[in-house]
Amino acid sequence: MKTLSSFNLKNKTVLLRTDLNSNVVNGRVYLSERIRESVITIKELKKKKARVVVMAHQGRPSKSDFVSLRQHAKHLNKFVKVKFIEDITGKRARSAIKNLRAGEVLLLENIRFEKNEFHPEKGKNNKLIKRLAPMFDFYVNDAFSVCHRKQTSIVSFPKYLPGCAGRLLERELKALNKIKLKNTLYVLGGAKPEDDIKLLKGNKVLACGLFGQICLIAKGKKLGAQNKYLFNNGFVDDKLIKRLKKKLQNVRTPLDFAVKVNGKRKELKLNEFPVKYEIFDIGKDTIKNYVLEIKKAKSIYMKGPAGFSSDEKFSKGTVEILKAIAKNKGFSLIGGGHLSDTIKKYKINKKKFGHVSLSGGALLRYIAGEKLPGLEVLRGIVKLKGTKIMEN
Ligand code: 3PG
Repeated sequence: MKTLSSFNLKNKTVLLRTDLNSNVVNGRVYLSERIRESVITIKELKKKKARVVVMAHQGRPSKSDFVSLRQHAKHLNKFVKVKFIEDITGKRARSAIKNLRAGEVLLLENIRFEKNEFHPEKGKNNKLIKRLAPMFDFYVNDAFSVCHRKQTSIVSFPKYLPGCAGRLLERELKALNKIKLKNTLYVLGGAKPEDDIKLLKGNKVLACGLFGQICLIAKGKKLGAQNKYLFNNGFVDDKLIKRLKKKLQNVRTPLDFAVKVNGKRKELKLNEFPVKYEIFDIGKDTIKNYVLEIKKAKSIYMKGPAGFSSDEKFSKGTVEILKAIAKNKGFSLIGGGHLSDTIKKYKINKKKFGHVSLSGGALLRYIAGEKLPGLEVLRGIVKLKGTKIMEN
């Protein structure tokens, strides 16, 4: 795969797809490792005197973290000068792109605000491609964590523009090429259970986060308010429960949970549920039990937090599990934006892990042996602006 070193980008207009998707609480975007690390490629492109346009997403339509990239721009500006425009394909965005000077960087609005992001099948008739592709000389993909999505900014632009990997994507691929996960203990958490289910293939699994609660529901446990929360917010439906039921043989589930009562952490044993409180973390018995398993493991892969890790009262499960993994001498792979952020926030020594990836779902699919569309298209034969065919 080609990299930034393969091209002379001086004075070229470069479309950079990066992943700035971060934790959002009550509308506030937290400065994440993804934002911090994205600066590496941006700075290099700036230094190479490219005209850089950054494209990124935040959240998913209808979710509470589906917000503008204005705050991300503010965070980025702590490290590198970036202009932000609240537009994607309109006149304002196109004139800002045209007027960029060598070494300048422009961040467009949340790409998922544009419906065409979800319609790469429209090909050349996709508004994003029609209006924007002709304005660029190069496409750089630095978003390994989004490479599992068949979305326009990931799979279509590199069909019409010569493309290459950014430094973060390159770093992830180099690290993943070296890993060997055999007899691995999977610690699966986070809020995307449809991803976790892909790894239930006989390995031993410690379930936590929303995934742990959903596994319990699939085992027939009633959690009360948390059942409602999970179903009403689209984290789970009857179909997923039915699929999960058949795959739980090697899955260990939480023994207790921490709920929020008057803003405080309160721990409850599983037999005290159902309750009227929502769940925010695993409890101390679960932590103890999981840490014992982690001590015995030969290699470990952890994906997603064990609880609501951005709130200090509910970060205990995630932090204790990460610390236990850091102590294990076997190979460990950590995946997902939340875990990278927790490692940084709680000053856990990153060097103690085999590899800490910024990617959650994409990494999980990679491990499950699936092909990632974003990588396939970068590796493949790329159509140049609809006419010439070029080996990439
Ligand atoms: C992630 O957070 O894993 C990536 O940004 C992809 O987000 P998505 O699951 O909403 O596509």
